[in-house]
Parts: sequence; C-alpha cells; structure tokens
Amino acid sequence: MDVPIYSLVLYLVAAVLFIIGLMRLSSPATARTGNIMAATGMLIAVVITLLLSEVLNYTMILVGIAIGGIIGGVAARAVRMTAMPQMVGIYNGLGGGASLLIAAAEFFRYYNLDGGFDVQNAATIMVTVLIGAVTFSGSMIAFGKLQGFVESKPITYPFQNIFNLVIFLAILAAIIYLIVAPESIPLFIGLIVVALVLGVLLVIPIGAADMPVVISLLNSYSGLAAAAAGFVLGNMFLIISGALVGASGFILTRIMCRAMNRSLTNVIFGAFGAAAASSAVGGDEGERVVRETSGEEVATLLGYSKRVIIVPGYGLAVAQAQHQVAELADMLEARGVDVKYAIHPVAGRMPGHMNVLLAEANIPYDKLYDLDEINNEFERADVAVIVGANDVVNPVARNVQDSPIYGMPILNADKAQSVIVIKRSLSPGFAGIDNPLFYMDKTMMFFRDAKQAFLEIIDEVKHM
Ligand code: TAP
Repeated sequence: MDVPIYSLVLYLVAAVLFIIGLMRLSSPATARTGNIMAATGMLIAVVITLLLSEVLNYTMILVGIAIGGIIGGVAARAVRMTAMPQMVGIYNGLGGGASLLIAAAEFFRYYNLDGGFDVQNAATIMVTVLIGAVTFSGSMIAFGKLQGFVESKPITYPFQNIFNLVIFLAILAAIIYLIVAPESIPLFIGLIVVALVLGVLLVIPIGAADMPVVISLLNSYSGLAAAAAGFVLGNMFLIISGALVGASGFILTRIMCRAMNRSLTNVIFGAFGAAAASSAVGGDEGERVVRETSGEEVATLLGYSKRVIIVPGYGLAVAQAQHQVAELADMLEARGVDVKYAIHPVAGRMPGHMNVLLAEANIPYDKLYDLDEINNEFERADVAVIVGANDVVNPVARNVQDSPIYGMPILNADKAQSVIVIKRSLSPGFAGIDNPLFYMDKTMMFFRDAKQAFLEIIDEVKHM
C-alpha cells in the first residue's frame, strides 16, 4: 500500500513524542508532562492509522475507545498506590491478549484468502501468537498472585524447568510446522492453548519479592508482542512503540535485578522464596529482646539530634503518613536538625514508589538520597527512623546465605547511633522473613500505625 507522506511525517512526530515522553518520565519533576506528550503521540498515531485504514465500522471503534477510556480513567483514579503493580500487571496482560487476537484474526483472514499465506506473514503471526499468549496468561497469574487470588508463594515441583523446556520445544516445532504448512486450524488453536499454558507455568514458580521483576519483564514482553503485531499488520508505529516498551521494560527489569543483586535467570528459574522463610530468621528466637518506645521518647531523641535519616517503606504507603512525615521533618529542621530520606530502589511495591509518595507531600527531591549516595552516612547519623520498611533494612541480606534476600543491597540503617522502627508489630515484610535489626540493643520499636505514630511524635515535639 502507498502511504501518503503526511502520515509518515505524523508517525515520526508521534514516535518523537513517545521518545521524549519516555525521557521525561525519568524524573518526578518532568514525569507529568512526559506522560501527556507520550499520550498525545499515541492519539496522533491512532488517528493516522484510522485515516489510512479501510475502516469497516467506525461506530464499533468509537464505542470500544469510549468503554476502554472510561474503564482506564476510573481505574487509574480509584486504584490505591499500593495496588499499582497489579494494575500494571493486568494492562500488560491485556496488551499481550490484544496482540494475540490480532494475530489470530490475521491468521483466519489469510486462511480465507485465495493465495493464502507466505512464509513471512505465517512466521510473524506464529511469533505474535506465542509472545502474546505467554504475556497474557503470565500477566494474569502475576496479577492473581499480587492480588492474593493465586498462591503468592512459588509453586514448584520436580523437573519443573525441564518440563517447561519440553513444552517450549513442542511449541517451537508447531510454529515451524505452521510456518511451512499454515493451513491446519486445529494445530493453530492447539498452539494458542499450549502457549497460554506455558505463560502460566513460567510465572507460578516465581513469588515473593521477585514479582516486581516479573511484572516489569512481562511489560517488556507486552511491548515485544505489540511490535510483533505491528509486523503482522505492517504498521510502523506499532513496531516503534512496541520496541520502545520492550526495550524500556527490559532496562527496568535489569535495574531491578541489580537492586536485588539477582540475575534474571535466577529470578525466572530460581524459585525465590520457595525455601522455608523460617530458616532465615538470623538468630536464636529464645534470646531475643525487643525494646519498646513511646512518642514522647522518640520526640526527645529526634528533637535533640543533629542528623536524622528517615527510611520510608511499604508501611508508609499503607498508612498514607507522608504528610505527617513531612510535617515532622519541617519541625525538626526548624530546630536545626539535618533530615534526609534514604530511598531503596525496591522499597514499597513498585519502582519509584517512595519517590512518588514523598513528592505527594512536597518533600523536596534534593532531600531524597539513593542507596549508594546515603549508605555511608548512616554511621554519622544520630538516628535512623525506619517507617514501615522491613526487607530493605534487613541485615540478613548481608550474611545469611540461605535467606531469600541474601545478596540484596540494603540500607545500612543498623549502622546509625540509634534506630527507631515504626511498624505495627514484629510481622515480617514482603519476603516473609524475620529481621534481626528489631532485636538490636540500639533499636527502639514504636508499635503503631505509621500515621498515628507520627501524629503522636508531632504532638510531643510541639510541646518541647
Ligand atoms: P516490607 O519489607 O514489605 O515491609 C513493610 C512493613 O510495613 C511490614 O513489615 C509491616 O509491618 C509494615 N506496615 C504495614 N502497614 C503498616 C502501617 N499501616 N503502619 C506502619 N507499618 C506498616 O517493605 P519494604 O522494606 O519497603 O520492602 C519492600 C519489599 O517489597 C521488598 O522485599 C521488595 O523486593 C518487595 N517488592 C518491591 C517492589 C518494588 S518494585 N518496590 C514491588 C513488589 C515487591 P507490620 O505489619 O508489623 O506493621
């Protein structure tokens, strides 16, 4: 088909808007405009594609856009920040599912055409089916695990990886057969079903703290599926946008693996967390003593400190205590205390979770420090205040080899002169393991909901 020059120019504009939008997402200060730019690029691309294509029924397309737009808009507003990974999981899955449906529709279109398939379109269809189906079913399982619908612990059985490999090889054989002789509808349907099963089998052995990595990897797959669908349809913009999602998802996956000190192969085939978490408690339970504290004691300690480092974690997001944290920090700074925030790359439940949360309370970005920037400062800090964080400060990651988080870089909060931990109980965090930091002599546990704790501390500081 001859493509008019204006559409190529507009596709290029849309692609540039996508790339600049992505670049702007790398800082909270520019992320909002980045999002708007990328969305504008997508709108341009959709309009151009509709103008160029032979559209049979505009009404159905508009109804689809309206229904999808309303569901997306309402979901984006209603979803809690802590449930964002699940939402991303579902959206990845739907992206993969859409690519699968496109490939299946094209299969039947070619099937009914005189002259039928050539090797190129048969190959692109089969590859899209494979990636789309694996992304769809894998993402639905990942969603179910994060939402608690599916057992979140790794589900493992003997010879699991070999079994998955055999299924993958069978799929590969079916794809090669279908590329050479694409006319078999039962084999094509069988391919879809087995690829869906493979998606499930690949995700069930993954659990606990590896789920964010899997979501990010599936995000990358959904981009690849879209790019493959772009080849099926001969749509350049779908190829470009799919490739961008695929590449950026993969880069994010690598960053997260590095933050947890895990290799991607280990995440996918290692069944993290399958071993009993109790083996990693790191200490003799009988001897351990916990020192409880009060709002008054914490206020006094903080009010007379010089350097305080706040370590936010998932519990801060649950309690929505960011505004109280900011208020206390302002009060302490007014008394001459130096307050910094230590941000672990996988604190919370999604990349950048703590940055977004603290930005909501207008905490200046220059007070937020990455793990590498702040870890040496803990030794000089008078107090480390750990708010609803657990795994990201768990010292077993340094030396307990059978711990599921062994090797994950942690924030050195235990090196501060005093440590205050604000959480409701001694319950473990996401990885399901106990934390010896809670039982150290210099640690004081303030057992409260984080918001309630900060309200009490603020009240005491006001009276100092
Ligand atoms: P966690 O280790 O999950 O610990 C959170 C702690 O918050 C819990 O121990 C809980 O203890 C406490 N908490 C819950 N609600 C609270 C409330 N209302 N007030 C006060 N405390 C509350 O959190 P983390 O240190 O941020 O570590 C994150 C973990 O999640 C890591 O293992 C990471 O790998 C994983 N993960 C990360 C991501 C990303 S990308 N960030 C995504 C998914 C999973 P109590 O119940 O005793 O209060």
